Parts: sequence; C-alpha cells; structure tokens
Amino acid sequence: MRAITPKFPKLLHGGDYNPEQWLRYPEVLKADIELMKKADINCVSVGIFSWAHLEPQEGVYDFDWLAGIIDTLYANGIYTVLATPSGAKPLWMSEKYEEIRRVQANGVRDLSGARHNHCYTSPVYREKVREMDRRLAMCFANHPGVILWHLSNEYGGECYCPLCQAAFRDWLRAKYKTLDNLNHAWWTDFWSHTYTDWAQIHAPVPNGEMNVHGLTLDWKRFVTHQTVDFMRMERDTVKAVNPEIPVTANLMGFYDGLDYFKFGPALDVVSWDNYPQWHTTDNTEIAVFSAMAHDVMRSIKHENFLLMESTPSMTNWTPVSMLKRPGMHLLASMQAVAHGSNSVQYFQFRKSRGSCEKFHGAVVDHVGNCGPYEFAKTENTRVFKDVQQVGAALKAMNARGDVYDTAVRPEVAIVYDVENRWALDAAAGPRNKDKDEKYVETLQNHYRPFWDQGIQVDFVDMDGDLSGYKLVLAPMLYMYRAGFEQKMRTFVENGGTLVTTYWSGIVDESDLCRLGGVPGGMMDVFGVWNEEIDSLPDGMRNGVVLDDRRYDAFELCARIHPITAEVLGTYEKDFYAGEAAVTRNRFGRGTAYYIAARTGVDLLADLYGRLISALGIRRAIDTALPAGVTAHERCGASGSIVFVENYNDTEKTVLLPDGYELYGTDQRVNSIKLKPFGIAVLSKLTKI
Ligand code: GLA
Ligand code: ZN
Repeated sequence: MRAITPKFPKLLHGGDYNPEQWLRYPEVLKADIELMKKADINCVSVGIFSWAHLEPQEGVYDFDWLAGIIDTLYANGIYTVLATPSGAKPLWMSEKYEEIRRVQANGVRDLSGARHNHCYTSPVYREKVREMDRRLAMCFANHPGVILWHLSNEYGGECYCPLCQAAFRDWLRAKYKTLDNLNHAWWTDFWSHTYTDWAQIHAPVPNGEMNVHGLTLDWKRFVTHQTVDFMRMERDTVKAVNPEIPVTANLMGFYDGLDYFKFGPALDVVSWDNYPQWHTTDNTEIAVFSAMAHDVMRSIKHENFLLMESTPSMTNWTPVSMLKRPGMHLLASMQAVAHGSNSVQYFQFRKSRGSCEKFHGAVVDHVGNCGPYEFAKTENTRVFKDVQQVGAALKAMNARGDVYDTAVRPEVAIVYDVENRWALDAAAGPRNKDKDEKYVETLQNHYRPFWDQGIQVDFVDMDGDLSGYKLVLAPMLYMYRAGFEQKMRTFVENGGTLVTTYWSGIVDESDLCRLGGVPGGMMDVFGVWNEEIDSLPDGMRNGVVLDDRRYDAFELCARIHPITAEVLGTYEKDFYAGEAAVTRNRFGRGTAYYIAARTGVDLLADLYGRLISALGIRRAIDTALPAGVTAHERCGASGSIVFVENYNDTEKTVLLPDGYELYGTDQRVNSIKLKPFGIAVLSKLTKI
C-alpha cells in the first residue's frame, strides 16, 4: 500500500501551530516545544496564516523566523506540515490590488479583512500566490523535517467579479460550443430566457437569474473547476521544486459549495477538518454523522486520509459550545482512526491571545506555564491530559507499526453525488420544506443500519466504480449523470445487489427531465415504473406493510407499478392503499430493490439486516452490539485492528466470539466492558 506520508510513515499527532502570533514571546515558543513533547506530538502544521510575516512588504520576504521554527521542531523530533499561506492575504496586498478581493452575489466588492475571501480567478492573486509558494518550496521543500504540503486553507466560497464571470463564460463556451446547445441544455425557451449572446450570461444570483437550473448547476460546476484549477496551480508550483513531498488540502466533509470528488486527482492525500458538536444532542446521531463524513472523505481517493483539524475541547463558533465530556476526546479521535485516518490533528496547538478565535479550544490554554501558581499550568489542565492520552495511544500504535498500513475495505457502498445534491437542492417540488437537508439526512438514514451493525461503508459518486461491492445503495439519486445507468446495470447484471428509492432517475445531467418513464433508463433493472410521487405535510403519515410489520411512511410516497418486480411491501392507506411500496427484481445475476416511500431507519434496518445476512457482509465483530455502540475494522495483511466505540454515557458490555486480543497485548478476550464514552482497540486474529 502507498504510504500517504512517505517521509514519516507514522500516525501523526499534532495540529495547527501559529508561532507567528507569538514571535514577541520567545519564552512561549520555547515552552511550546516542551509541551509538544509531553503530549507526544510528532508533527505540526505551520504557516497557514503567515503571509503578513513571510512577505511583510511587497517583494520583501522574510523566511528566517519560519526556518528557525522548522529547524527547532525538527531538532526536537517534530515534523512539519508546511502550509501555503494563500488562505489569508496580507492587508498591503488587498489594499493595493482591488481585483483580488471577492465580489459578493449582490455585486459589491469586499473590503479588506477576514480570510478565505480572495478571487480564484484574479491573475494578480494567482501570481502573488505562485511566487510565494515557489519561494517557500525553494526554501523548505528539501528540509528533512517537512513531510507534507498543506495547500491553502479550506478552499471554498464563490466570487462574482467580472473576471470570474468572464471565466465562467469561457468555461461554458468550451463545454457547449454553441449557444443553441446551451439554450437546449438549460431549457431557456421557458419564460423567454433564451440567450442570444454569450455576454448575456451571468452567474445565478437572487436578484438576477435563479430559475434556470442548468445555469445554477453549471455555475456550481464552474466554481469547483476554478477552485481546483487554483489548487492545481499551487500544487504544481511546490511540486516543481520537490515532487517527493505530497500535497494535501484540508476539506470540510459535507460542505456543499464544492464537489470534493473532483479534488481527488489533484491531491496526494485527502485531509479534513471535523468539528462534531458532541453532547449537544444525541451523541449516537452525532457519531453516525461524523462517521459518515469520515467515510466520504476517505472515499474521495479510496485511501487512508488525515484528520487535519479537530478541537481538543470546544469550538467557539456555534450557538452553544460544549466541553467534551471525559472520554470523548479519545473516543472521537479513535473514531477518525477507525475510519481510515492516519492522524489526529487539532485546531489548534496554542490558543490565540486575541481576535475571534481566542476562545476556541486548543491543546495549550491561556493559562500557559507563566503564572505565579505551580498548579495553574498547562500540564494540569484536563484538555492537555486528554491530548496526552491520545498521544500515548498513537505512540503505542506507531511503536507496533501495525496500524499505519491497514486499510478500510468496505463491501457496501452508498452513492453520494454532489452534483445530484446540487440538482436536488435547486429543484422546486415535490416537497420544498427543509429540502436542503433531506439528501444528506436520507444518506444518513441508509447508512445508519450499517453503523449499528459495525460495518464499514464506502461512498462513491457517479464517476466512481461500483464493481468491487456486494451491495450498493443509491438513495434519492434524482439525477443520473451520463454513463451511470450503465454502471448500475452492469453491476446488477454481474450479480450485485442494488437498492434505490423514490425520487431517483428523474433528470439527466443537464437537469432535463427524463422522458419515457422513471427511473429513467432503469425501469427494466428495477422492474418498476414510478408513475408519480405524493408529498405529505409534516406529521401526516401513511404506512408501509413489509413482512407483516408496519412502518411509518411520510413526506414522499411514490406510486409505482411493478413490471417484473416482486412486491415485498405495500402502502397501508389512502387512494394507493395496497399498492407496491417496496419491490425486488431479479436482473441478470443480481437483484435490484426499490423503496418507494420515505420511511424511518426502522424499515431500512430490517431490510438491510436481511441483506447483510443473505449477502454475508462482513461485520467487524460477529456479535450483537448494544445500541449506541459500534465497531469498525481496519484490515491488514496479518489480521485486522478493531475499534469498539461506545457513544453512551453509561458502561456497556460487548461479548466477543473467539479470536480477539486486546490490542498491544497477547491477552485473548471474550468480552469487553466499555466505559461511558469508552473505546477499546482489539486485534482480530486471522488464525484462531
Ligand atoms: C477551520 C479553520 C481553522 C479554524 C477552525 C476553527 O477549520 O481551518 O483555521 O478557524 O475552523 O474551528
Ligand atoms: Zn473573482
């Protein structure tokens, strides 16, 4: 397997380190190194917001302070993830070059300030970034301590400036060649929206055009394209100096402004920033969402990834910021590792003293080690001790060397396609209420039964490959992008099991409705025709009767007609009482299921439970897991590592079949007791 951090092939423990905020305090910088060592921190990410210190005046570069930091870190056994500073531009630059500042959807250009708000198209900004990145790479890309490039910070957002609008038109011209093609794809005869000149095309904005969904979709595609193009420029610049240092960018899980699947080919390693708001609601729900986001991030490259940021305690940007309860820091950190992260990294190492993140959780609190009282110091803080615990766990895994190279190998995949998400969000009807959250919520409902049973899941987008899976779920796949029907068809023909739902196969990738029946192009595979869909107000219920059990059906209930499919479940009431609600169709050597109504997890758990048994889908532990407890497996050549996670605030016991040892010992165990928010790591032996 490819090492994602080849120069230092170890699980990383560290995080964002902003020494530029502390250059006036040399004693603090000195203390930092000691504290890093005490917490078994083996790498930190530096330079993320350092531009003003790296180039204090235009063309005047000062890298000495950074060189000093990287040297000292390295001399103390701490590696550097080096950032390009393009996430925040220095004031002198944004004041001098207006074009690098974004224009908002309302047409007003930003003033200087904030961050993550530069124009990705601006030739001036690109040139400034290229020059900075080149110089940084010349200076540091061959430093023995530098193991990874951290490109910019959380690429995101949109700019509506004239340069971006012109680039959008160029992109459209390359895609459609003629305005006639564009007008057809966007269905602009509607409301007399026909374009007769490329110059008439503007980005979709609330006080302009928001009704042409083809335009909305293409704009979002363009924003991703332009962002990736900018990122590639950064990547190529640093790689030109030393191609051996991999590049990453810290992504944001389910952030919907960008199609992260398009980032995969440009990155050597995916990393991401995860901030679950533990304890603010049911922890199991939070854990499931976080697990799913880890899986999406891993699935971008189908490789191990890095948890680039997480908070050691609380965030400060939510309405309410709760402390992590005892146990949760280790548990949440190990959750990332269980899903394929080769790191636990934090935002941030030391809490800033001023400005808007001064109350954001950090490894080192303001107490520092500089007050009059011996007890009031960093090492005595609960958070620092929690971090030490994670450091010790990762250190033990690094000492054995048997986790880094293990991989997550799911037999189940869920189709998550960002373009489909955009199209669903843009569409008006059939149910607009809370529409923006429904796709991801639906994915989570379909994911949940697998989490409950301790089964790893991949996510694939429509450019992905289905062939290696036993079971593929494609809920709410409203849009079929070109070629995906064929992939699904081949998957089922070759013996795969495919599940889809209501509101699938409605439009093509231009967002034009499929003619000739839904699910478009897949009616024979599913053996049904979905004639129409009913939308129910909040609180109104229908029911689905499946295998003598009744389940609530709500919000969206499609009326389907079986063609060749066998009816498994029927509607309970209304004018479609008794009609098919869940069907199964044999097609080729495989099987295709259709779930016509939105239901709770209950129906999905029962249906998927049967499929899990019938298809022999591997679970991390072949045992009944208590509610709120899951287990996840990383597979290696000589066995696997199993992480058993308890998200309850009460103790739970898990009975184990033969063949498990407590990780790091040769002690066989047949049951484990998990503390509240407890985690156990086990070795699953291949030979019993
Ligand atoms: C993001 C950013 C960090 C920091 C954290 C705070 O993830 O990348 O710079 O602002 O949020 O949670
Ligand atoms: Zn712009």
